[in-house]
Amino acid sequence: MVAAKLAIVLCFTLSFARPTSRKWIEKDVCIIGGGASGTYAAIRLQQMGVDVTLIEKEGKLGGPVTTYTEPSTGQTYDYGVQIFSNLSVVHNFFSHFEIPLVRLPPLSGGNTTMINFETGEVVAPSQLYMGNLTAALLGYAEQEAKYSSIFEDWNLPSPVPEDLLMPFGDFLKKHSLEAFAYIAFIYDQGTANILAQPTLYVMKYQDQVQIRDLLTGSFVVNALQNNQLLYDRAAAELGEKLYLGSQPTQVTRHHNHVEIEVSTPEGTRHIRARKLLVTIPPKSTSQFLDFDENESTMFRQFNNSYYWNAILKHTGIPVGTTLPNVNPAASLNIPAMPAPYTFLASPVPGLHATYYSSPHNMSDAEVADDILATLARVREGAGFPEPDQNPEIVALHKWSPFEITVSMDAIRDGFYNDLMALQGKKNTWYTGATWMNQATSTLWRYTEDKILPHLVPDEALLNAQY
Ligand SMILES: Cc1cc2nc3c(=O)[nH]c(=O)nc-3n(C[C@H](O)[C@H](O)[C@H](O)COP(=O)(O)OP(=O)(O)OC[C@H]3O[C@@H](n4cnc5c(N)ncnc54)[C@H](O)[C@@H]3O)c2cc1C
Ligand SMILES: *[C@@H]1O[C@H](CO)[C@@H](O)[C@H](O)[C@H]1NC(C)=O
Ligand SMILES: *[C@@H]1O[C@H](CO)[C@@H](O)[C@H](O)[C@H]1NC(C)=O
Ligand SMILES: *[C@@H]1O[C@H](CO)[C@@H](O)[C@H](O)[C@H]1NC(C)=O
Ligand SMILES: *[C@@H]1O[C@H](CO)[C@@H](O)[C@H](O)[C@H]1NC(C)=O
Ligand SMILES: *[C@@H]1O[C@H](CO)[C@@H](O)[C@H](O)[C@H]1NC(C)=O
Ligand SMILES: *[C@@H]1O[C@H](CO)[C@@H](O)[C@H](O)[C@H]1NC(C)=O
Repeated sequence: MVAAKLAIVLCFTLSFARPTSRKWIEKDVCIIGGGASGTYAAIRLQQMGVDVTLIEKEGKLGGPVTTYTEPSTGQTYDYGVQIFSNLSVVHNFFSHFEIPLVRLPPLSGGNTTMINFETGEVVAPSQLYMGNLTAALLGYAEQEAKYSSIFEDWNLPSPVPEDLLMPFGDFLKKHSLEAFAYIAFIYDQGTANILAQPTLYVMKYQDQVQIRDLLTGSFVVNALQNNQLLYDRAAAELGEKLYLGSQPTQVTRHHNHVEIEVSTPEGTRHIRARKLLVTIPPKSTSQFLDFDENESTMFRQFNNSYYWNAILKHTGIPVGTTLPNVNPAASLNIPAMPAPYTFLASPVPGLHATYYSSPHNMSDAEVADDILATLARVREGAGFPEPDQNPEIVALHKWSPFEITVSMDAIRDGFYNDLMALQGKKNTWYTGATWMNQATSTLWRYTEDKILPHLVPDEALLNAQY
């Protein structure tokens, strides 16, 4: 009797000392990162009957989706992610959440004045490089078509074609496509100095679908100007399968399952999943993922740009007026970064949006100072009257790492083939901008076509339609 009691006490003590009786949350798939790719994957897998869980660091889903709500009227405005491609994945995903899409209104709708942000001077069209834009878009599409199958999944041939390794500015000059430079600069924002990027990164983004949508004016936008609503409805649909405000603290990958320790607002949770889907940039996983030598060596090579978006009020810029930054003295008229891309008219009276990129790290305070100094120069150069109140930055967000790249030498040496070989190793799959590009629509399509089939049982695939 005494011995039995002692045994019970001992057991009790031991189980306290060593938490082997840990409560595991069993899942088919655990997804890290609830931005564009992770949210899409979670919703689709759930639709296919896969038991998923999604871990998101912030208090909301959607990553760089930023929707401004005007306090006095409730009017909303997407000053982060706004533009989508006319693809069936986009229509399907929005219609699942009962959100209407409309064609992107022509950009020429407002009053646009080109300004050199370095000097503040108004730039006349006659000062700019002017080519035939339609011809350049068609010529570029013809070049891109040579490589588009490569870009579906980073299937780079060996040797990598020299045109793809060439700095984008040189590529445009070589093929007399200079008239495309400014459009590429404006659409492929956040990449800092776009003319210096290896051409393959620009081409991966400015693909056939983007060029088609540019030429035919078929980009689409959320008719409610509220992309956060899409992600909030996704969050509601995921319910308890979603951990917001949560981060993995340790991930251990075994031969037939993955163990994920998660710090959540309600305390630590332990998830045991059959498969792991990583959607955050690999370089952001070094604190918790059990890298081997090969993975560490590869992920260390990633470099990135920095991107900010902001909302301004009391700018002194007339309502409805957009001021793009252009530099007549620079190569192909593309301004050097760090700098704002534009002061963009917003549908909310009195507000302008701005976008800023830098090749190196900067603090938010430095960026805010530069935005306000640029605004003062521009206002003076354009002759806008002093505003009654001081210009104010209502919101400013930093998005980094943005545009994740490796050196031309690494690309030449087969970096992307080695990277793609990691897909599926140790029950781990990857999607997101590092693995495809920085366009939400393309990421949804890539995730749907190339990644989800590996995460669902065969029978579920048969029922994979919406
Ligand atoms: C200002 C701005 C405007 C843009 N406009 C457009 C546009 O109009 N159209 C378009 O197609 N694309 C646009 N983009 C690009 C697009 O938003 C991104 O390419 C896309 O969001 C990338 O998706 P992703 O899944 O790779 O990463 P993200 O959407 O960035 O998602 C990553 C998620 O992981 C979370 N996370 C990070 N670390 C952790 C961690 N340790 N644990 C848990 N969670 C973590 C992040 O909080 C984030 O929610 C824009 C981007 C920015 C910044
Ligand atoms: C457009 O802006 C310019 C510069 O501020 C101004 O001179 C012009 O009158 C504006 N045009 C319209 C139609 O608002
Ligand atoms: C521009 O190029 C297109 C396509 O090549 C052509 O149809 C059009 O005539 C050109 N426009 C001008 C003004 O030259
Ligand atoms: C989108 O593409 C479809 C065909 O796939 C076409 O019918 C439709 O008009 C396009 N929408 C827009 C906004 O261009
Ligand atoms: C990683 O592994 C791949 C394929 O197994 C190999 O080709 C590559 O050289 C390795 N990379 C490094 C940096 O060790
Ligand atoms: C990353 O890019 C920045 C800006 O081009 C450059 O200064 C830096 O040297 C690069 N870092 C690496 C590790 O390549
Ligand atoms: C960038 O700078 C900010 C502020 O100056 C700093 O907090 C942050 O850690 C830096 N980020 C990187 C990746 O160096």
